Amino acid sequence: MSKYKIVMVRHGESEWNKLNLFCGWYDAELSDVGKKEAESAGKALKNDGYKFDIAHTSVLTRAQKTLEAILKEIGQSDLPTKTSWRLNERHYGGLTGLNKAETAAKYGEQQVQIWRRSFDVPPPPMEESHPYYNKIVKDPRYAKEPKKEEFPMFESLKLTIQRTLPYWNDVIVPDLKAGKKVLIAAHGNSLRGIVKHLDNMSDEAIMGLNLPTGIPFVYELDENLKPVVSMQFLGDPETVKKAMEAVAAQGKAK
Ligand code: 3PG
Repeated sequence: MSKYKIVMVRHGESEWNKLNLFCGWYDAELSDVGKKEAESAGKALKNDGYKFDIAHTSVLTRAQKTLEAILKEIGQSDLPTKTSWRLNERHYGGLTGLNKAETAAKYGEQQVQIWRRSFDVPPPPMEESHPYYNKIVKDPRYAKEPKKEEFPMFESLKLTIQRTLPYWNDVIVPDLKAGKKVLIAAHGNSLRGIVKHLDNMSDEAIMGLNLPTGIPFVYELDENLKPVVSMQFLGDPETVKKAMEAVAAQGKAK
């Protein structure tokens, strides 16, 4: 018997997803396809009668605009929303801005797969000389947090989970336990971290998970927050499977 139900969605395709660039903390906009994906996500939730009491999202535009489009579709544009850097995409460090296929051609597909999907192997750090260093580090949205000593220059999934879980435990879980219907609009890897935690997935198993853009999925949890229903996508299984395969294929050399 499930006690809690929570909906999560990875942002719609971003302009950098479209260009197949490592994005991470770069604040890419949604592409036109991504905007349509976000609207479709809202329509799917509306068709299934979803209404929420609270939303959680990252401080990055692609997630916030996805949430905005979803809430507009379900008629809840004024839904209370909490934002946190802790839901940001994993920081891709020195890979930020590089083309994934070109990086695979240069370093090998296996190395790119390790950088993208392994649990504890981080990408190379973003050095001060990196073209996007100042744009990210000096972004006013980070004026108050993360603290200087917490500000990542690279993140493995393990490091991402270490900064996402405190938000899950200290902010999202209390909302669930207060009986609130919760929606999270975030990113492929911050959501992979939450999924790994909820399903207690092994470090090996999580390597195989690629989350599609813009397709909501549902978890139903028991009173101990253990999944009764895991990652139930709102979409036909074939479409979801193809979308996951497309995300995986972004790391293939061309
Ligand atoms: C990015 O940050 O590049 C994407 O949003 C997620 O990338 P990945 O699917 O290669 O981890």
